[in-house]
Amino acid sequence: MTSILVLNGANLGRLGTREPDVYGSGTLGDLRAVLAEDAGDDTIDLRQTDDEGQLLRWLHEAADTGAPVILNAGAWTHYSYAVRDAVSLVTKAGVTVIEVHLSNPHAREEFRHTSVLSAVATGVIAGFGFESYRLALAFIRRNAR
Ligand code: DQA
Repeated sequence: MTSILVLNGANLGRLGTREPDVYGSGTLGDLRAVLAEDAGDDTIDLRQTDDEGQLLRWLHEAADTGAPVILNAGAWTHYSYAVRDAVSLVTKAGVTVIEVHLSNPHAREEFRHTSVLSAVATGVIAGFGFESYRLALAFIRRNAR
């Protein structure tokens, strides 16, 4: 049994009411339930923070415990070198980090076309709503436990 960290960054606590045309009408609670159904004997540890330092501390925790990570860093994806460095230290420790996005950032505003995380993440899945997270979980359960 593996504990899988599902880390969500800035503004993702507002899922359900935030731009539902872009992000869907499901809440983080709904996402937790969907992933828990897929998780089998693994445990989903889904967290959200609007505090960048908190996200860094959770990534450090993953490096220490070896828990695989599904990461939606929200807008930090596009500019936070601190989050990038933290993702890098996790993947360099041999721990899987999958960058996910609900929307397809490449089909949106130009500032979203850059991810400073992708080059140091294990892989990237974007554009499929909650399915982005489910696909990441399926990969982890097959390959990275
Ligand atoms: C997002 C895409 C980001 O550009 C945006 O800042 C978010 C959510 C997504 O899941 O589609 O907050 O990461």
